[in-house]
Amino acid sequence: MNRVTIVAIDGPAGAGKSTVAKTLARKLGFLHIDTGAMYRAVTLSALRQKADLKSDAELEKIARDSKIELKPGDPENKVFLNGEDVSREIRTPEVTQASAHIANSVPVRKILVSRQQQMGRSDSAPYGGAVLEGRDIGTDVFPDAQYKFYLDASVEMRAERRLKDLEKAGVKTSLEKVMEDVKARDERDINRAVGGLRKTPESIVVDHSHLTVEGSADALYQYIRQHAR
Ligand code: DC
Repeated sequence: MNRVTIVAIDGPAGAGKSTVAKTLARKLGFLHIDTGAMYRAVTLSALRQKADLKSDAELEKIARDSKIELKPGDPENKVFLNGEDVSREIRTPEVTQASAHIANSVPVRKILVSRQQQMGRSDSAPYGGAVLEGRDIGTDVFPDAQYKFYLDASVEMRAERRLKDLEKAGVKTSLEKVMEDVKARDERDINRAVGGLRKTPESIVVDHSHLTVEGSADALYQYIRQHAR
């Protein structure tokens, strides 16, 4: 059967999924789909419209009306919301915080999961495949993905990386505070009723705590080369 190859990368926040997925997609010549960026774009739209973040009806309408485009770029991919470049704005602490509400909304998840499936199947056709990263790719978005990876890293490592990013962005905070945030996000991601973060029995677990981006991307790449399906 001639179908596109799907590589699913799931894992907790701050494990380095985005950079690893981007590097892996480049090595494979595949399309890279950052699904977290899509939840963030809907969150930004909801915040701008001062929506009630607990109202599924409001959030569903916003998700439906949000045209989200992911465009490859260097060093960062670009994210467009209804034609506007929002790549930076979707990364603010305010959006990160509020995104948990959007990720909890079942109707929003339905809309985004369906778009992700469509993007993976059709947008990636010219590339021969797609690398999708998120929380529920191997479980809900592409349960039949040919390759499923679970990229993990210790809470300490993830907090240190996050602290560096925040410092770069001029945000003043402490390692303790960031560690608390990372733990709280893990709780929310794991305990979400729908689309929660979960390994599948067939997921290959890669601990990215002590590997470089190139090292992890290479480990995934070698695995795919050796297990061509
Ligand atoms: O990976 P990230 O931090 O950019 O994700 C942003 C938010 O979206 C976060 O609250 C987790 C959520 N998310 C999700 O629920 N499912 C996905 N497939 C990807 C992200």
